[in-house]
Amino acid sequence: MLQSNKDSRRQESKSAIRVCATEDIKPGNALRVTIEGHPIALVRLNDGDFRAIDDKCSHGEISLSEGFVEDETLECWAHGAKFDLNTGVPLSLPAYEAVSTYEVLVENDEVFIEYEA
Ligand code: FES
Repeated sequence: MLQSNKDSRRQESKSAIRVCATEDIKPGNALRVTIEGHPIALVRLNDGDFRAIDDKCSHGEISLSEGFVEDETLECWAHGAKFDLNTGVPLSLPAYEAVSTYEVLVENDEVFIEYEA
C-alpha cells in the first residue's frame, strides 16, 4: 500500500508538456524542443512514430537533433556515435554513456512529452 502511494506521487510529478504539432516535424527528421530550459531532441521515425531523447550528445556539446535519423537510431553528426532512440544507449563509439529518453504522446495531432520537473 505504501509502495503504491509512493508510485502515485511519482506519477503526479510528471506532466505531459505540449511541444509541437505533428505536422511540424516530417518523418525521418529531428526537432529541438525545450522544456523548462532543458533541450530535447524530438524524433519522428519513418513510420510516423515519435521518440524523444536528451538533445546533447554524451560525447560532447553537440545537439543530437542536428544529426541523422536512421531506423530507430539518431547519429551524432560530429563523430558518428549512434544512439538507440528507445533506450538512449549509444550503439557505437566514441560515445559510451547513455542519454535520457522521454515518453512521447500524440493526441489530436499535437505532440506531448512526459517530463518530470
Ligand atoms: S560529440 Fe557526438 S560523437 Fe562526438
